[in-house]
Amino acid sequence: MKPLLVSSALLLVALFSAAQDQPSSQQPSSPSSSGPQSNPVRPTPESQARAKKIYSYDCAMCHGEKGDGKGDVASDMKLTLRDYTKPDALKDFSDRQLYDIIENGKGQMPGEGPRAKPDEIWNLVIYLRSMSKK
Ligand code: HEC
Repeated sequence: MKPLLVSSALLLVALFSAAQDQPSSQQPSSPSSSGPQSNPVRPTPESQARAKKIYSYDCAMCHGEKGDGKGDVASDMKLTLRDYTKPDALKDFSDRQLYDIIENGKGQMPGEGPRAKPDEIWNLVIYLRSMSKK
């Protein structure tokens, strides 16, 4: 009788500690800063019209209406900006890098932050890349 009691006691202890382990075995939550690396958005005429509008309100004063980097504010602030009408102007940037700069800003550039939705920022990336094709 005795060995059976001991082993069932051990079994109970094992079950109990297994049950206690469970909360700590949850997956760590993934970091919030990660997101798609390449553009997840398919441009439509509507989404690109929206991107053009956002660009003309929030970006053209520096980057220029056509993307040539000759906006009024840019010349007031004596900024030297890339010319997006040149095909190789953005070739060293990934879509993800452009997204992050538009969202967060960089140097003298203010970010769009929460003013633009993720889809709108991805469409801005597509819009910038299309400026050299005109
Ligand atoms: C106040 C002027 C200003 C405004 C407004 C502005 N930018 Fe910029 N932008 C800059 C400057 C200056 C840089 C270069 C930053 C650096 O490299 O230090 C830059 C860099 C960038 C870059 C990185 C590639 C590059 O040319 O170096 C992208 C992409 C960009 N801007 C897009 C945008 C978009 C899209 C908007 C509107 C939502 C916008 N910018 C609004 C000034 C501006």
